[in-house]
Amino acid sequence: MTGFAARLRAATRAEHRDAETRGFLTRLLGGTVPPAGFAALTAQYLIVYRELEAAAATMRDNPVAAGFADPALARVAALETDLAHLRGSAGEPAVEPVEATRRYAARLREYCHTSPVHFIAHHYVRYLGDLSGGRLVGRRVAAIYGLERAGTAFYRFDRIADPAAYKAAYRARLDALALTGPELAALAGEARLAFALNAAMFQELGSAYPEDLGSAA
Ligand code: HEM
Repeated sequence: MTGFAARLRAATRAEHRDAETRGFLTRLLGGTVPPAGFAALTAQYLIVYRELEAAAATMRDNPVAAGFADPALARVAALETDLAHLRGSAGEPAVEPVEATRRYAARLREYCHTSPVHFIAHHYVRYLGDLSGGRLVGRRVAAIYGLERAGTAFYRFDRIADPAAYKAAYRARLDALALTGPELAALAGEARLAFALNAAMFQELGSAYPEDLGSAA
């Protein structure tokens, strides 16, 4: 339990708790985010994952990061399908990025195409989260909004048969990273920032879509 994966988890524990307990996510799980708010969250994710997966395409040849840039994780196509479905049923126009999403996307664009350290940090925060608590969130929102596959495809990884085994292999890859101490410290710092960028996004969505006890059920 002294490898880098365990240290990274410990180094981001407080940030995880903070992101997890932001009002928007707890309300999402409690069923008090209006359907338009869930569509807006899906749209923010699409913006973020377009950047992350564009970076992954460039990192596929990088000696340090290539192992992480696995096409089986790709989320953009699922998010596009989900968003088309959610917009259709909510009758909503295209959803714009909130300011925090713009900042998040800009950070990914600026650093993650060229720096494996930054890329892996952002990759870890999103995909390992999606393979963990994200699957629970998917089941909850499907029940709350009465959705079948369309609308919640983002939360399912059809090309990953055993998420627990995948996460174990992912952590082994983190443990085996050929990076110096300062580079590993920079990676943990960037992962903390990635959590904060996510938390800011949830915060802003929470203000944009206040509690609506009537329409989410
Ligand atoms: C309601 C919201 C959330 C719940 C219930 C939740 C729950 C969990 C749980 C139970 C684990 C541990 C899984 C395991 O040990 O295998 C986990 C891990 C993780 N979560 Fe979350 N989470 C939530 C939100 C988030 C968010 C918003 C992010 C990032 C933006 C995130 C990122 C992560 C990461 C990176 C891990 C892996 C930690 C590690 O083992 O290194 N989670 N989550």
